Amino acid sequence: MRVIRADGAGGPEVLVVHEVPRPEAKAGEVLIEVTAAGMNRGDVMQRHGHYPPPEGVTDVLGLEVSGTIAEVGDGVEGWSPGDECVALLAGGGYAEYVAVDARQVIRPPRGMDLVTAGGFIEVAATVISNLDLAELTSGETFLVHGGAGGIGSFAIQYAKSLGAKVVATAGQPQKLDLCRELGADVAVSYHDDWAAAVKDLGGVDVILDSIGAKYLDAHVSLLKRDGRMVTIGLQKGRRAELDLGLLLGKRGTLMATTLRSRSAEEKAEILARVAEVTQEGFANGVFRCVPVREFALDDVRAAHEFFDSGDHTGKLVLRP
Ligand SMILES: NC(=O)c1ccc[n+]([C@@H]2O[C@H](COP(=O)([O-])OP(=O)(O)OC[C@H]3O[C@@H](n4cnc5c(N)ncnc54)[C@H](OP(=O)(O)O)[C@@H]3O)[C@@H](O)[C@H]2O)c1
Repeated sequence: MRVIRADGAGGPEVLVVHEVPRPEAKAGEVLIEVTAAGMNRGDVMQRHGHYPPPEGVTDVLGLEVSGTIAEVGDGVEGWSPGDECVALLAGGGYAEYVAVDARQVIRPPRGMDLVTAGGFIEVAATVISNLDLAELTSGETFLVHGGAGGIGSFAIQYAKSLGAKVVATAGQPQKLDLCRELGADVAVSYHDDWAAAVKDLGGVDVILDSIGAKYLDAHVSLLKRDGRMVTIGLQKGRRAELDLGLLLGKRGTLMATTLRSRSAEEKAEILARVAEVTQEGFANGVFRCVPVREFALDDVRAAHEFFDSGDHTGKLVLRP
């Protein structure tokens, strides 16, 4: 079967199609025939050599897939060959087949087609687990950057479903329009003085931060009393100076998390919550699917070039 690896570190040209033996489902695992593999910013970081797979995990790229169960390993209950599923992976998704611990697999949300579902689970698990961690509640104000991107587009919708007032940033006018369509109460260009606009609103209670160093000072300044920020990405740097006095005065909380290296038990807990929130939520209109753009697995370099351009909205998926 075909898989994609990065032979070296760098641009899309390091991505290479390899032929490898098809894996088998070991005890506790299922083998999935991949319908679509979601692309994530983490894949680009891995391609650059900045996000190696955790110990013992394949170096084949890909953190999530949708597909059908091809084999069921010993001891696995509740799955049969042919069942549709989505899986949260620590790696290995850019492939025709992937074997994964059955605890990291759930059914796709009702009413969502299987190609769209290929880009669903990483975003849903990240957003839901982190906004739950930050205890975002009804009536609070929530800030997310890149509201038209993978994480941002679902973060807007989940925060709205919790009853929060949502502020989103984006880099282009059509992306700001999408933020509003998804429910953002306020959408601001991050090329303008977005921090001043958020300050005019009176600050925010919760921030989902995928930017890191560049915005740390502004973020801490904008937190309201008892405000919480969860850092999940470091797109604009990892080191910055923190004004602890400012944070202390606000009784603020800074947190930082990652999903990839969590244990199968932890992922199972997160996925149970994801299923609870989303299983009916897409069918009954609480959430809507953002457009998904498809690339053939063999066109992975073109797909990464497009991802690197930053012109995409929502999710990109690879089709084996
Ligand atoms: N910790 C975890 O477990 C975890 C899991 C999944 C993802 N993540 C992180 O979440 C982030 C988003 O991932 P993704 O897959 O959703 O990628 P994505 O679709 O490419 O989204 C990235 C977003 O960042 C926005 N952005 C870029 N530069 C910005 C700036 N200077 N100011 C404000 N926004 C800016 C972009 O906005 P425009 O498109 O409008 O330019 C884009 O929407 C990444 O940092 C990723 O590493 C973390």
